[in-house]
Amino acid sequence: MTGLRLGINIDHVATIRNARGGRHPDPVRAAKMAATAGADGITAHLREDRRHITDDDIARLMEQIELPLNFEMAATDEMLAIALRHKPHACCLVPEKREERTTEGGLDVVGGHNHLAPYISALGAAGIRVSLFVEADPRQLDMARRLGAPVVELHTGAYCEAEGEERAHHLARIEAAAAHAQAIGLECHAGHGLAFDTVGPIAAIPSVVELNIGHFLIGEAIFGGLDSAIRRMRAAMDQARNAALGQRSA
Ligand code: PXP
Repeated sequence: MTGLRLGINIDHVATIRNARGGRHPDPVRAAKMAATAGADGITAHLREDRRHITDDDIARLMEQIELPLNFEMAATDEMLAIALRHKPHACCLVPEKREERTTEGGLDVVGGHNHLAPYISALGAAGIRVSLFVEADPRQLDMARRLGAPVVELHTGAYCEAEGEERAHHLARIEAAAAHAQAIGLECHAGHGLAFDTVGPIAAIPSVVELNIGHFLIGEAIFGGLDSAIRRMRAAMDQARNAALGQRSA
């Protein structure tokens, strides 16, 4: 056990289903398979336009899966009402723009603190663990702490998209932000865009305790199956974390 959790984001199983309508492939079936392949949690984003996960998917996930559900949502009254009705284990507040293809940046917690504060407190009061999806910027983390969010998830998208020195620069920012999160008492997660070749350095960061990974794994599942893709990811992250732990104790 490395103490590093893997959350599997099943949104894009629903994307494929919705391309035809109907029930196949079912994201709930994928969630059950993720559990047997070594996932520690399931993540699903109910978007305002319902382009992938639907309200019925969330209801069935809550009923049928044993792993904790991390419900990704925009900070809106509609999503808050849904979260309070289902009471998932966790809610991750994400920015959402209708025209974007995916979640294209972190939340502006500094600029939006007045808007976010009541959502964080309402979810927290209902016993739901709240996380804020943010860029690796210490000012965003400081504000998350001030607002009483117990968890931040660092956006790894720019790190994954970059190459060479630019990727190293993004990695250094993520490492520094993860250390800062720990220093100010925030639990630190990371995710977005992670793949077999990018997960290692993020998994090696000692204060990161959870990774949330979706799109790459659903794509890999086309070629080798979902179970095998998740197991390979789990092995890659555990290997990187164990190597980092070994280096620190040596
Ligand atoms: N974490 C958050 C907060 C996200 O919004 C997403 C994408 O929905 C992910 C993790 C997973 O990203 P990807 O699908 O690129 O692995």
